[in-house]
Amino acid sequence: MDIITLGNELLRQKAETIRPIDASYRKIAGDMIEALHEGRGVGLAGPQIGLMKRIFVVHVEGDEPRVFINPSIIETSRDMVKCEEGCLSIPGLWADVIRPSAVRVQAWNEKGRPFTLEAGGILARVILHEYDHLEGILFIDRISEPKRNRILAKFEKMQRA
Ligand code: NI
Repeated sequence: MDIITLGNELLRQKAETIRPIDASYRKIAGDMIEALHEGRGVGLAGPQIGLMKRIFVVHVEGDEPRVFINPSIIETSRDMVKCEEGCLSIPGLWADVIRPSAVRVQAWNEKGRPFTLEAGGILARVILHEYDHLEGILFIDRISEPKRNRILAKFEKMQRA
């Protein structure tokens, strides 16, 4: 499974609602979790593999892999927190991003079962990052312009190398 990187227009498009959540998504979710592990990431969203559907997978240390299909962010904490983030689509580059410290999300799993999850810490962080991917938003959109330009310059340099 190839992960597409910054510069590919698909990363900037909005993903579509999955309807129906048929059996094929069990395989897709499994393949995405595998790609996530291979890339040593903590989250992977459909658009990152060119699948313009509202699905992402998350696997943070100490937790099980989780699949989110057609997620809705129901609530976010007023409390914000700064944490270093990276992205499999912007390999090798990280930046501090400020996000809500906790989130309540509703979604369906790969079996088509609905669930609601309240998360904090790194899990909340990754859920919000992956949700952004479904909207065509990248973490570099959530940092200051000088920092973004620095990252973009480094990324271009790495692409040329
Ligand atoms: Ni990402």
